[in-house]
Amino acid sequence: MPDAEWRRTVRLLEPVTIGGMRLKNRVVMPAMFVNLGLRGRRARAFYVERARGGVAAIVTQGISVDLLISDEPWRQADAAAAFVKGMRSLTDAVHAAGARIGPQLFHANRFPSGMGLEDARGEPVAPSASDDIYYRGAHSGLPPKTPCRALTAAEIETIILRFGQAARAALEAGFDFIEINASNGQLCSQFFSPADNRRTDKFGGDIARRMTFGLECVMAMRIATSGDLPVIFRIGAYDEKTGGATLADNVAFALELEKAGVAALNIGVGAPADPRRYWIDHVAPTSDRPLGLLADFAAAFKRKVNVPVIAVGRINTPQVAEEIVSNDKADLVAIGRQLLADPLWVEKVAEGRDDKIVACLSCNTCMDSLAAGGDIACAVNPSLGKEAERA
Ligand SMILES: Cc1cc2nc3c(=O)[nH]c(=O)nc-3n(C[C@H](O)[C@H](O)[C@H](O)COP(=O)(O)O)c2cc1C
Ligand code: SF4
Repeated sequence: MPDAEWRRTVRLLEPVTIGGMRLKNRVVMPAMFVNLGLRGRRARAFYVERARGGVAAIVTQGISVDLLISDEPWRQADAAAAFVKGMRSLTDAVHAAGARIGPQLFHANRFPSGMGLEDARGEPVAPSASDDIYYRGAHSGLPPKTPCRALTAAEIETIILRFGQAARAALEAGFDFIEINASNGQLCSQFFSPADNRRTDKFGGDIARRMTFGLECVMAMRIATSGDLPVIFRIGAYDEKTGGATLADNVAFALELEKAGVAALNIGVGAPADPRRYWIDHVAPTSDRPLGLLADFAAAFKRKVNVPVIAVGRINTPQVAEEIVSNDKADLVAIGRQLLADPLWVEKVAEGRDDKIVACLSCNTCMDSLAAGGDIACAVNPSLGKEAERA
């Protein structure tokens, strides 16, 4: 257990402000697809347990923007409006439990997933035509090798508008902020990547033009919410994929995003070298990787931007988390699987009960259970996904 002096000086538990939103400490739960939905009892119990455990802000699992604003993916009249309304019980419950909550928004251009988020049932699309199908599980209903078609300029404008509309819907559902996922090879990062974007219109070409899609999405979201919802931008530090965006490219992008009004930057991973490794160990690094492995990348952004920076990636112990924030590598830390393993992590740290923390093994049983089409499961927390049974 850390000594009393360490506890008195802990910066991790100090408040911080993101785009006018005050957070009671510097611990965020990052987006994690847990396949519990977003408006039923199971989802509520899952998120409320983490909120009660002391985390300042929760980012929901990724939500395809279309689900918030269109009945098409639901194949049912008024389903999107019902979804938005239904999430109000989630946001109210998390607020009552003392945390902020925001949805992670993404466009499911090549994620016709069916993993509880029915979306993009049509053809897979991308900035430029590609057979890099990325993640196409058995769930998709599409042949595994369906190539991506290049989006038309008109379709791109529509997607940008839809990000704005989805942000508006998030405001109506009572969320406190929005995160746009532009990391790990999502549509926004594809637009920024020279490897994935070979367009010659205003959305492609030199680095400035490759920023256009991301910047316009941010502006659409800010305009649609009258600037009332802070926008967190989850950006990849660098692409492992050959010819992708470098760290310097992404830092340059971050500076423009800051001018466009993003409230914070969450520094995740870029596009993987091998898309098949995406769910295996790229997004969620395994125990052979060091604790806090991405923190130095977060620091590279932190040195250049003025908005708060969030670090993520195996920040499993209070010592590693504190080292990151107290050495100004980042302003906040996002703690993912460790909060699946032990929802009370923050509370235990605050009370000096570190020895009682149930350690995440970074074994990715949680990932594997979902990939196998089952309920989420954890190697050390038998209650994961079953919180509602105890509530
Ligand atoms: C089960 C699971 C689902 C995830 N789903 C998402 C997601 O929907 N969006 C996203 O940006 N990251 C997702 N991630 C990545 C996490 O946000 C986080 O970056 C990653 O787990 C590394 O942090 P950690 O070592 O603290 O777990 C997921 C991770 C896990 C384990
Ligand atoms: S299954 Fe393994 S990696 Fe996932 S939260 Fe549990 S201990 Fe951590």
